Amino acid sequence: TADVTLRPQSLGEYIGQDKVKEKMAIFIEAAKKRGEALDHVLLYGPPGLGKTTLAHIIAQELNVNIRITSGPAIERPGDLAALLTNLSDKDVLFIDEIHRLNSSVEEVLYPAMEDYALDIILGKGPSARSMRIDLPRFTLVGATTRAGMLTSPLRDRFGVMGRLQMYDADQLKTIVKRSAKILEIEVDEEGAAEIARRSRGTPRIANRLLRRVRDFADVRAEGIITRDAADQGLQLLEVDALGLDHSDRLILDAIITKFGGGPVGLDTLAATTGEEAGTIEDVIEPFLLQLGFLQRTPRGRCATENAYRHMGLPLPKNIDNKG
Ligand code: ADE
Repeated sequence: TADVTLRPQSLGEYIGQDKVKEKMAIFIEAAKKRGEALDHVLLYGPPGLGKTTLAHIIAQELNVNIRITSGPAIERPGDLAALLTNLSDKDVLFIDEIHRLNSSVEEVLYPAMEDYALDIILGKGPSARSMRIDLPRFTLVGATTRAGMLTSPLRDRFGVMGRLQMYDADQLKTIVKRSAKILEIEVDEEGAAEIARRSRGTPRIANRLLRRVRDFADVRAEGIITRDAADQGLQLLEVDALGLDHSDRLILDAIITKFGGGPVGLDTLAATTGEEAGTIEDVIEPFLLQLGFLQRTPRGRCATENAYRHMGLPLPKNIDNKG
């Protein structure tokens, strides 16, 4: 992707996610000391927090090659077999959106992960025979937005779990300044802080907003991203003071004005807003939950008092326990 040059290349350069980094550094060093492949790693968390970047870094730190694919790209067991048999010893195989593997492919993955072996069925019917092929030792790095979306047999085969969390404004500011330097964009402290504050806790968004605000600054502000330039550029992008974008506000507005603040079910919300249920759940909701604007209840989604206030909508009289 376009931001590939912004990706940090080592754990040392990677900002934030201290718990995951600390664990990975130890497991990587131990595997290298023993001359073994690193155990399989599952990375999970909302999109844009650096799962793919971390997979690259893991391979880099292990001094091995990385093969990159995704759950939906592996359509048949043979596709996975081809990938696995082409790996070299201790390589990393990165499967993004691993929760979207179909079950026939998943079943090939189990013995591959556990025994480094491929079970192949030759022929059909009564004369069918099964043959076992040895695979190189490898490390599967899987990425998913929610660990709960994996089947338990798959989840159980990962020896290392890394949960990525949203970044705080300080960390994002450091990332914005780092990216600005690489892209040769002039940004002052307050400009970087403004972009950071409005990036929904997500480096991918921070980097995207940085580029767009640069466009604004180049045309309207002599190329320097000050706080003012950032603020005006972000207003143009319809990114509000807390970083909510058009989609975030669309969802909150629907819950409040169409469903009396909720509870409303995910599919109903999707149908009324035109956003996909999966996008609402994985992309939009994590940040609204983090802000305390949304609650997930057994009966559906509810907007909190703080959400009403932020949207500038009058609180209903009977709102209870929603702040
Ligand atoms: N760019 C995107 N994510 C990053 C991170 N976690 N650290 C440094 N640079 C990044």
